[in-house]
Amino acid sequence: MKALIAAGGRATRLRPITWTINKHLIPLAGRPMLAHVIEKIVEAGITDIYVNVNPGEGESMRAALGDGSAFGAKLTYLEQQGGAKGVAHVVANAEAQLKGERFLFFLGDNIILGSIKRFVERFEAEKLDCMLAFSRVKDPQRFGVPEFDAAGKLVRVVEKPANPPSPFAVTGIYLYDTRFFDAFRTIAPSARGEYEISDVNSWYVGNGTVGFEEITGWWKDTGTPDALLEGNALVMDDLPRAAFTSEGTVSLEAQVQGLVKIGKGSVIGEGALIRGPVVIGEDCRLENCYVGPYTSIGDRTTIRHAEVEHSIIFPGVALTAQKRIVNSIVGANATVADVRDSVPRTGHQMIVGENSVLEI
Ligand code: DAU
Repeated sequence: MKALIAAGGRATRLRPITWTINKHLIPLAGRPMLAHVIEKIVEAGITDIYVNVNPGEGESMRAALGDGSAFGAKLTYLEQQGGAKGVAHVVANAEAQLKGERFLFFLGDNIILGSIKRFVERFEAEKLDCMLAFSRVKDPQRFGVPEFDAAGKLVRVVEKPANPPSPFAVTGIYLYDTRFFDAFRTIAPSARGEYEISDVNSWYVGNGTVGFEEITGWWKDTGTPDALLEGNALVMDDLPRAAFTSEGTVSLEAQVQGLVKIGKGSVIGEGALIRGPVVIGEDCRLENCYVGPYTSIGDRTTIRHAEVEHSIIFPGVALTAQKRIVNSIVGANATVADVRDSVPRTGHQMIVGENSVLEI
């Protein structure tokens, strides 16, 4: 079986981070969001994987994720012709590659706990035409929502309904038979101008056998920083204990508690207290600081004097302010320093990019 991952789109609500990086490359537990998705797919036994990207982003995505060999897979990048025209359009754009195949379609901003292997196996064993995964959510109106009749039979899927017919979201993990492209040709863009995957799913309900399962431990990036931090924590909780290796140097004057991964060349120096789960990249310098649970720190980062918790710190960052930084996302090569380090000492000096948020 082949797989297609959707990794295009605009992610406007995650600016300024997404001005310079595709949302799907944002590091969660120290690795690009898509790396976690690819691992789930490979673990389910699928290694021939297409990655849908925005026009012009093929090279940068390939540079970040490679040809797939690091995952034991083959990755092929497809640029979405005409841009982000909807989730169903992502699949239509890959018609030449997927024609005649039964395939897995995975939205690259969906993170799940556990395995999808059983889900894929059921699709094959029961020779289903389509398979969907549902998750109970507080706000179904933001998702595709399944509608059931009184007997509990699935009757359709409605995209972002104002009055949701059930408390479930259709998650972004789908399996389809070879007729996807016939279904696509029957749908038209919705009121928001997108080819909706829910319309394809409703077509399958009317024209085939659709299997479905409820899953727990699903995370969908709503595009907000808070949700991204929640995703980071979820991925850390999903990491096996064996992933928390220490390849750096820890001073006898430092304290490392709980599950902490320390990358090659990193030095945890005097006065540092690291309380896991924490993931620290390569060549970092941490001293006289506190790093608390659910923090991931990119390569070449320096932390001195600062306290940081439940945050995503990109590579090349310097956090040297004597401040407690929580629930924060700090972009690559940013500096958060104490005012006393800057001259002249007349106030807070900053260079803040468009759409930044600072609470000082
Ligand atoms: O996550 C589950 C939900 O995903 C489903 O419940 C909805 O039925 C489905 O329509 C989709 O809803 P969203 O509004 O959340 O989709 P979003 O625009 O966030 O795009 C989902 C993924 O697909 C994301 O990784 C970006 C990518 N994408 C999106 C569009 C519109 C593309 O690669 N190309 C596109 O044209």
